[in-house]
Amino acid sequence: MRINRRLLSAIVTALMAMSLAAQSGDPFGSAIVNGVPWTDNQGRPVNAHGACIVEEDGRYYLFGEWKSDTTNAFPGFACYSSTDLVNWTFERVALPLQESGLLGPNRVGERPKVMRCPKTGEYIMLAHTDDMRYKDPQVGLAVAKEITGPYTFIGPLLYEGKPIRRWDMGTFQDHDGTGYLLMHHGDIYRLSKDYRRAVKKVASGIKGGGESPAMLHKDGTYFLFGSNLTSWERNDNFYHTAPSIEGPWTKQGIFCPEGTLTYNSQSTFILPLHRGDSIIYMYMGDRWSYPYQASSATYVWLPMQVEGLKVSIPEYWPVWNPETMQPVSELGGKVVTVRFKSKEKGSKLTLPFEGTRIAIKGYTFNNGGYGRITIVDNQGNTVHTNLIDFYSKVPDDGLRYVSPLLPQGAYTLIVECVGEHPHWSNKRGNYFGSREDWVTVEEVRIY
Ligand code: DGJ
Repeated sequence: MRINRRLLSAIVTALMAMSLAAQSGDPFGSAIVNGVPWTDNQGRPVNAHGACIVEEDGRYYLFGEWKSDTTNAFPGFACYSSTDLVNWTFERVALPLQESGLLGPNRVGERPKVMRCPKTGEYIMLAHTDDMRYKDPQVGLAVAKEITGPYTFIGPLLYEGKPIRRWDMGTFQDHDGTGYLLMHHGDIYRLSKDYRRAVKKVASGIKGGGESPAMLHKDGTYFLFGSNLTSWERNDNFYHTAPSIEGPWTKQGIFCPEGTLTYNSQSTFILPLHRGDSIIYMYMGDRWSYPYQASSATYVWLPMQVEGLKVSIPEYWPVWNPETMQPVSELGGKVVTVRFKSKEKGSKLTLPFEGTRIAIKGYTFNNGGYGRITIVDNQGNTVHTNLIDFYSKVPDDGLRYVSPLLPQGAYTLIVECVGEHPHWSNKRGNYFGSREDWVTVEEVRIY
């Protein structure tokens, strides 16, 4: 019975129904695609989570957790660069694993944030360091002369001569160049002029504050973003406002439609983008995927609307152009409707195609698992492969994979049910994630 089902799944390919054949433009070379792994210039997933971006001389530098698929232990912080926020070049592991100390073996390193200190010209990286059980939180300090590093790890950032013993953190650089450290649950510290110390706690335990803090400052109002305490699970993130960074801080509520769980993401940073005479603030969030964070955790980046005291992201744009700041509603390509729904390890969807790129739409829900996507050329060489997470607490139909641009040719797409699912527990031992391994693919677009 089991074998028959496998065979049946393999033959599921036969259930494909061709529809709409008009081959049209490929939008992916100039668009941010949310919730799919991005591929860097070396063909590997862009692996920079809990990230921030520093813009300098027309280039964007992305720093983030260089996650691993095998352990949560710190393997380094990565730096990528791009001129368009879409095509990313791997620069280097900007801060590598240290021989010992706060970011030595079997330690946790998260949420690296980089700022250029206006006074010294030095690049300062601050990050959450911890033990593997998250019982030794501190803020680590690393410095570099060049933006891409390598960064030299100094030790804990000190306030009144002592480490700051809290976990999730962010940073914020105000218009006047003052640097701030944002800590979870609403502590804000001003940094020294050289950014190497915290010198004043300017806000303390802002009521209703949360994890993964991020900030923007517009027209005299400060906006502080944060998430509820749900480990790597998504929740409805929220924000506070204040007329001064010292407060008084007022909780305003959520900024994405309720129940979308911030479009299945967790805040990490807000990037101001200069477009014409305006500044548009781009929300940067993480869609975590434990244990395969390196391969399968993805990004949700969206422009925010900021009016008076109100911030919102009224719609989810799966694909959008960061130059025009507009959603891409026509995905083009030749649409192939497929029906692959399986939780059986090893079952496969196989689809031969000719072209330069392929995009896959699928369904995610609370019992989704991991699917492996592989593209093989007509010599049998794997030209691209990636593990895809089909789990989401809130069900979602959407893009799950967009291949890198391939030389025009004949290929075979294989989607395989891996028979594993994302799941993890927090430090209180609560279970999170999926309990089954479903992989559901509904549509393939060929370019
Ligand atoms: C919540 C934090 O926001 C994440 O960055 C991560 O540290 C998880 N906790 C780990 O459980």
